[in-house]
Amino acid sequence: MYSEKVINHFQNPRNVGEIENADGIGQVGSPVCGDIMKIYLKIENDVIVDVKFKTFGCGAAIATSSMATELIKGKKIEEALKLTNEAVAEALDGLPPVKMHCSILAEEAVKTAIIDYYKKQGKDTSDLEIKDIKVCEGCSHAYSKEY
Ligand code: FES
Repeated sequence: MYSEKVINHFQNPRNVGEIENADGIGQVGSPVCGDIMKIYLKIENDVIVDVKFKTFGCGAAIATSSMATELIKGKKIEEALKLTNEAVAEALDGLPPVKMHCSILAEEAVKTAIIDYYKKQGKDTSDLEIKDIKVCEGCSHAYSKEY
């Protein structure tokens, strides 16, 4: 049911923890399943030099958080903003359909952390705000943003 990569990232998650004095912090949660994901970014010269996460959630949420941090580490902010939940799932060699919504949490946690960074820089983030909160078709989970 789960790919080897999902099991590997669940059992040995990369970049777990928090960053003191992080430049951007994003927290999202699903009001339905109650899972919460928090991402911390350290940014220098528009590059994500460090990233850590804490996820209180299911195995797929932990694996997708772990993979998302791997995918954005060392990347420019603009590239990280393009990260989609489909790309995270693909990098894990797929997720069972009922678990795709967990990857949405990862995408939105990254975006929320970047928006937080931009806000701290005094930048206008109105065109970056997550307007259409994604809803998983399979389970109707919707996501809420918290700072
Ligand atoms: Fe809630 Fe996976 S079941 S994120």
